[in-house]
Amino acid sequence: MYQNTRPIGVIDSGVGGLTVVRQIQRLLPGEDIIFYGDSANVPYGNRSADEIFALTMRMLRYLEAREVKCVAIACNTISSLAERLRPECPFPLISIVESGADYVAREKLPLVGVFATEFTVSTGVYETRIHAGNPECEVVSRGSPDLAALIDKGDFNQSAINDEITEQLDVILSRAPVKDLVLACTHFPIVEENFRRCFPELHLIDPAEQQAIAVKNMLVYRTLTNPQNRGKLHIETSGEPEVYSAIAKMLHLYGPEDCKVISLA
Ligand code: DGL
Repeated sequence: MYQNTRPIGVIDSGVGGLTVVRQIQRLLPGEDIIFYGDSANVPYGNRSADEIFALTMRMLRYLEAREVKCVAIACNTISSLAERLRPECPFPLISIVESGADYVAREKLPLVGVFATEFTVSTGVYETRIHAGNPECEVVSRGSPDLAALIDKGDFNQSAINDEITEQLDVILSRAPVKDLVLACTHFPIVEENFRRCFPELHLIDPAEQQAIAVKNMLVYRTLTNPQNRGKLHIETSGEPEVYSAIAKMLHLYGPEDCKVISLA
């Protein structure tokens, strides 16, 4: 049995997972959080399943040594492999895909766009999970090969970001009159304003809030919530900590206590 004072681990291939940290801090302010972003290896979304699995296992082993009580997979690409990862971990893994897809199914949306990485789209994981809850929902998916990596650089004024959003969403809209769009890559909500400016008519769904609710439900069910008032946030990365600090500030995260480079063996 884990102690409730243990930290929550949060992982992503890069900075995107900080959008999930934002929601966990809102919903579970007493929790200590260790966030790890593997920016040295971003993007994961253009890699093979075996590569993503191996890179993710390094993060999970590291967090196991840090004695986390659970891990929120704040990456849709990694969450596509959740079933393969779970047997390898002694702690619960909470998948952002499951949270996002279950929400879409519950809302009984007749049609939804899913904008993700190419890997996430190739697995069909959103379609499968949405259809398990609502077989009637039409799902139109599209992957971007570049957007996550562009965002991970931390420069949001690049016209390349708007160009990529426009090019890929035009493809989705040419296939069906989508009104609801899942931002199915945790990097994308960081540039939510760019999405709104390019496509003001779309209703954007960020699964991060649903994932934070799933984390909370699991902790409450197992009586593992931390009763302290304010938890500490530690940000660690294989990339550039300056980008993480800037995005943590932009997302109004509480803390962080520190933001540092940790290389994983
Ligand atoms: N943030 C990750 C996701 O939600 C993807 C970024 C990447 O391709 O590494 O899918």
